[in-house]
Amino acid sequence: MKLNIALLAGDGIGPEVIDQAVKVCNAIATKFNHEINWRPALTGAAAIDAVGDPYPDETHEICATSDAVLFGAIGHPKYDNDPSAKVRPEQGLLRMRQKLGLFANVRPTFTFPSLIDKSPLKRERIEGTDLVFLRELTGGIYFGKRGREDNGDTAFDTCTYTRKEVQRLAKKGFEMALKRSKRLCCVDKANVLETSRLWRETVQAMEKDYPDVEVSYEFVDAVAMRLVQWPSEYDVLITENLFGDILTDEASVISGSMGLMPSASIGESISLYEPIHGSYPQAAGKDIANPLATVLSAAMLFDGFELNDEAEAIREVVNKSLSEGIVTEDLAEGEKAYKTSEVGDWLASHI
Ligand code: IPM
Ligand code: MG
Repeated sequence: MKLNIALLAGDGIGPEVIDQAVKVCNAIATKFNHEINWRPALTGAAAIDAVGDPYPDETHEICATSDAVLFGAIGHPKYDNDPSAKVRPEQGLLRMRQKLGLFANVRPTFTFPSLIDKSPLKRERIEGTDLVFLRELTGGIYFGKRGREDNGDTAFDTCTYTRKEVQRLAKKGFEMALKRSKRLCCVDKANVLETSRLWRETVQAMEKDYPDVEVSYEFVDAVAMRLVQWPSEYDVLITENLFGDILTDEASVISGSMGLMPSASIGESISLYEPIHGSYPQAAGKDIANPLATVLSAAMLFDGFELNDEAEAIREVVNKSLSEGIVTEDLAEGEKAYKTSEVGDWLASHI
């Protein structure tokens, strides 16, 4: 297969972890006889510095005309502590999600047998965890009307959802549940919020089309608790944008390191793959960041083209590196810590 992939390294550790994913993908391309044409483009603080815009039109053009996007991370501390900053790296991310129509954010959480004791949660609670969040990504409070009133003393953000938006996300959830253990949990706050009642009503109406899927409805506060109590009881969870943002960070703790979990953001015509971690500016340029979340995101990219053997080959080599201790300092625990680039080289050469 010939693939054009937009490559958005972004900020902080983004470029370093992206480099390793590229090495791994190129090794896969050689092994399985594919051709990958990487198309680098600017985004985030790096793009603000270069052209004053965190998601320049030129970058959008490159993404929109590629088969997929591989994304590193964005964010820079110089914007975090300046509430008056007019342009922020995160705006680029939100605009990119919206302009590319990336409405479904797939965030899996699973455990690695060799790392199970690295999790802050007890082994007996997390063993066997293999769940996936489908977070709605282009609606809700992130994109609703917001502003200030009362001379700036009152602020508001509005959460809006349409039935169609809920349906297209829920459809993905049902389809994913069918391919997994046929359990779907709709996470909402329907005891308080009108948007949540629309979510629940819409998903309930869809149940008849998927008689094999067992659907449960749970309030977000209860899920926040049960997620760390009994994560292995969940399979596919669907939820709106902000709840999903919060719960997926919580869920990432289960696996033992933020540096491990991949994600896919799926649109009607294009999808984007990125690690769930941020730009980790303290580590930028030090060659110490864990590249595995990005490498596993690349595996999801191959899955997106139904190149499942390729994806599986990546997951296999990642597991191998973990069990052989070829890991960065976040996982080394007193043993030898490998550099980001060394882990990438090892993975590529073992494919
Ligand atoms: C994420 C991030 C973003 C979000 C930020 C950086 C805008 O936290 O991808 O989860 O809130 O969606
Ligand atoms: Mg987040």
